[in-house]
Amino acid sequence: MILLVNGPNLNLLGEREPEVYGATTLADVERMVREHCAARGVEVRAFQSNHEGALLDFIQEHRKAARGIVLNAGAFTHTSYALRDCLAAVRVPAVEVHVSNVHAREPFRHVSLVAPVCRGQIVGLGVRGYLLAATWLMDEAGARGA
Ligand code: DQA
Repeated sequence: MILLVNGPNLNLLGEREPEVYGATTLADVERMVREHCAARGVEVRAFQSNHEGALLDFIQEHRKAARGIVLNAGAFTHTSYALRDCLAAVRVPAVEVHVSNVHAREPFRHVSLVAPVCRGQIVGLGVRGYLLAATWLMDEAGARGA
């Protein structure tokens, strides 16, 4: 099973700054990832929250069953030591995703506190980044058939 975890304001994908984040909604993203993984027999649990602790609770709750985490932590990427520690604690391979190219934006977005505890980053490729991350986890991180 793969966790698809989205942080603050990503519930507004499709509506929020479409010139930056595009027109695809979070419901569309979750459906796309579910279908993509289902084709390979992998279940997806999707969760979004605007609350840091709720994200930690979700990741902790599913830490034993999860074989991979597709994570767009939104602005918590740049601020949350707690999320970083959570990912280090659960030891589930995670791929960090950002819809926009954070490196071409404001300097505060260039720093990721979660990057050191993720296996890799997919940045700036739009919502396709979520599919690419899920593919990598299924191919490489032993999430296949989980
Ligand atoms: C984001 C980039 C973050 O800097 C920002 O705070 C977001 C979205 C992205 O997907 O491009 O909320 O994670």
